Amino acid sequence: MDTRQKDKKYLGRDGSFRDVEVTKAKGSYVYDAHGKKYIDFYMGWCVGNVGWGVDEIVRQIKNFNGPDYVSPMYFYKPWAELAELLAKITPGKLVKSFRATGGTEAVEIALQAAMAYTKRSKFISIEGSYHGHSIGAMSIGASDFRGWYKNLLPDCHKIKPPLDRVAAREVEKILSKRDVAAFIAEPTICNLAVVIPTKEFFNIVQKACKKYGTLFIADEVATGFGRTGKMFACEHYGIEPDIMCLAKGLTGGFGALGATIMTNEVAKSMEFGFSFYSTFGWHPLNVHGAIANIKYLLKNKKEFLKNANDLSFYFKERLEKMPFRYPAEIRAQGLAIGVEFTKNGYSDAIIKKAMGKGLLIADAKPNTFIIYPAINISRSVAKQGLDILEGCL
Ligand SMILES: Cc1ncc(COP(=O)(O)O)c(C=O)c1O
Repeated sequence: MDTRQKDKKYLGRDGSFRDVEVTKAKGSYVYDAHGKKYIDFYMGWCVGNVGWGVDEIVRQIKNFNGPDYVSPMYFYKPWAELAELLAKITPGKLVKSFRATGGTEAVEIALQAAMAYTKRSKFISIEGSYHGHSIGAMSIGASDFRGWYKNLLPDCHKIKPPLDRVAAREVEKILSKRDVAAFIAEPTICNLAVVIPTKEFFNIVQKACKKYGTLFIADEVATGFGRTGKMFACEHYGIEPDIMCLAKGLTGGFGALGATIMTNEVAKSMEFGFSFYSTFGWHPLNVHGAIANIKYLLKNKKEFLKNANDLSFYFKERLEKMPFRYPAEIRAQGLAIGVEFTKNGYSDAIIKKAMGKGLLIADAKPNTFIIYPAINISRSVAKQGLDILEGCL
């Protein structure tokens, strides 16, 4: 049996897959089993922010000499080191990290901490959003999930974009009942093909959260670590969240873990016995990869963020001039770039054609495609990819 046959027989999957058998990845390129080279404008959906196979990081991972495993109950120096790093680079008063295996678990911890802190159980989030695939995370995600699973968490209110003053007033009105544990959102909504709320939206929501005792959770699982041209997307809006969820770019793919970082005050509410436990949360090998990745990103931060911002203009300019067959809305913040059509099926055709021609892009919701390249992608590779894209219209 070849890989596809074995996969079909033994691997559980959802209904969507792309027919690429990845064998190697380096920088902004991915290679398949036939040696075909793809330009990666997708980077595993905001995972490989600094590029794949970075020599400096890979070398350090190969030199790992720590324990195979450490029980969450013990002390382990690199845990403290990674937590300290996260406290130093995240905005506002975020200090204490809880150890998660990935983004979904980071969101779960955030919801639980908000419930423990406020003694409330209701949530507000953005309609159509995505925060992971657990029961809790799906409850605050798109309402469509309720069609699949009837018994998701009750009392989860969804706010529909556009996220402007009107939407913020709607949030405020709900919060005024003083029974909502947390408002949760991606600051820039990658999962809606880069919806960029107004600053006013977050100003009003943040103030209302403070006034009515609701916690503000920023889900930066996708937007964190330079994706939007700042280290964290919160910085675009002056958001100082009570809790922030991190994963993906936190390890850059050089490991698998997530983190829920919160203020001391909120963390205190989790100090009861067995409030949270994750056997493989912050496995030593993954922590080693995460620290190497973050240190590499911090060392090159100025250059990488400048590149993300410079190339953001380039991508936007090129996309705005492209002869799309149907009207397109182009949205960009750093290297989080989304294109949305009103015409059904057009984006799917582009994505498929691009893959055939050696360019990897993806959809975020129907009639969109997203471009989430490495934040240190060179202008020449960006140009090559955009040229391929233009040839697919
Ligand atoms: C904003 C956001 N939150 C949470 C998650 C869930 O992360 P994971 O797939 O690591 O569980 C994702 C995954 O795409 C995400 O984009």
